[in-house]
Amino acid sequence: MYVGIVAAFAFSTACLLVSATPHRRDASTTISGGKNNEGEDHDELKVPKGARIKSIPVGNDGDEVAVYWNDPVTDQSKDAHSAYIMIHGKLRNGNDYWDILNDALQSAIKDEYPGVDEKAFVVAPQFFSTKYNKGQYDKNHLAFEDVNGWQAGDPATHPEGTTMTSIDALDSIVSTFANKDDYPNLRNITIVGHGGGGQLITRYAAVGSLPEGVYVRFIVGDASTHAYFTKDRPVTKEVDGKGCKYWNTWRYGFDNFTGTAAGLKRPFEYFAEYVNRDVVILVAKNDTKASGDQYCPALLQGGEARRDRNFAWWTYINVLARTPEPVQLFDVANFKHLPDWSMAVGFSGKIGPRLVVIEDAEHDAKEVFGSKEGRAALFSSGDIPVGWRPKGYEDEESDCSYC
Ligand SMILES: *[C@@H]1O[C@H](CO)[C@@H](O)[C@H](O)[C@H]1NC(C)=O
Ligand SMILES: *[C@@H]1O[C@H](CO)[C@@H](O)[C@H](O)[C@H]1NC(C)=O
Ligand SMILES: *[C@@H]1O[C@H](CO)[C@@H](O)[C@H](O)[C@H]1NC(C)=O
Repeated sequence: MYVGIVAAFAFSTACLLVSATPHRRDASTTISGGKNNEGEDHDELKVPKGARIKSIPVGNDGDEVAVYWNDPVTDQSKDAHSAYIMIHGKLRNGNDYWDILNDALQSAIKDEYPGVDEKAFVVAPQFFSTKYNKGQYDKNHLAFEDVNGWQAGDPATHPEGTTMTSIDALDSIVSTFANKDDYPNLRNITIVGHGGGGQLITRYAAVGSLPEGVYVRFIVGDASTHAYFTKDRPVTKEVDGKGCKYWNTWRYGFDNFTGTAAGLKRPFEYFAEYVNRDVVILVAKNDTKASGDQYCPALLQGGEARRDRNFAWWTYINVLARTPEPVQLFDVANFKHLPDWSMAVGFSGKIGPRLVVIEDAEHDAKEVFGSKEGRAALFSSGDIPVGWRPKGYEDEESDCSYC
């Protein structure tokens, strides 16, 4: 059923295809008036031990994305079967994130974690800011005027005239590893982000196009907001939707989304991609401070705390897909009459995304990926422990209170 419907949608969108020319489209950039000010925590680029900086071509006009990459000593392109693409958080410190993932990998190797690839690649892109990183990037490197526009897949503003986005950069890195001439044994690509990086990956898991011949897992850690597929929102009390501009505009919803290099699809089609992919939604149970995005479109996604917004997102996708998960027990959402989009899911009624909640962890990538659940998300090809759940979750089913 899924295949038929998607084929029908794909046909009609192909006829209607609007130009996918990227323009600045991120509501957060618009709301902040260019005053996003998240900064960085490095003066000059520090290359972690075991890594080097490398440039990967993006598009056909000579643009490049800078990445931290295993150094030549550990370059195992013929042997590696796994590659990890780790996205930095809002401070854009790719070097630290390269270290976090490499530490998790080395400790899993040391502990002989089943299935872990000793020869795995670790790659951490560096999305430069033209405001904070002058002098650090080359003439071909992508850099962004808005310090966090990359989280929403916006286009870079350097090199001058570029139309390449952070999503194009991810596509390039993924297809680099999907090239069987260069990486004949590479089977698994795992794309990981936490915080601001989690925001890019939750969106990429819906709108990214994946190459053939590799298996891709998306790990989304503690994202502050998601792109909602419909105009439904979990909060109806704390913030009044009236007076909140741009609440359904891209980064927060699909209004003004201009598509990717693969064109522009309908939100339903992106939902169908998302729920049929291997997406691990990692949530730190103590990520409850009012930090991260506090603009009103973000508050409408479940209040001030990232944790609650992620529980609301889990509720939302399960109700849209009409799974049996007893999501009402999270009790953070107040959806009304969500549409029935179960036709996006196969006959099993199972969705690809999994929720993994880490008790006693705060908004901290090291804690999250250092936990046993985080380790399983990164390295397990079997089960991943789900971590915390509300009381009674194992024994109940959806009561469809938001259907
Ligand atoms: C969305 O696009 C319209 C038309 O191009 C524009 O007027 C509006 O400002 C855009 N919204 C945002 C938040 O960028
Ligand atoms: C996490 O939150 C719980 C409940 O508020 C608290 O009891 C616990 O001490 C917190 N853990 C950490 C590591 O902060
Ligand atoms: C690796 O790919 C296989 C499919 O080839 C998949 O079953 C497995 O879960 C993947 N492992 C990870 C860690 O993503």
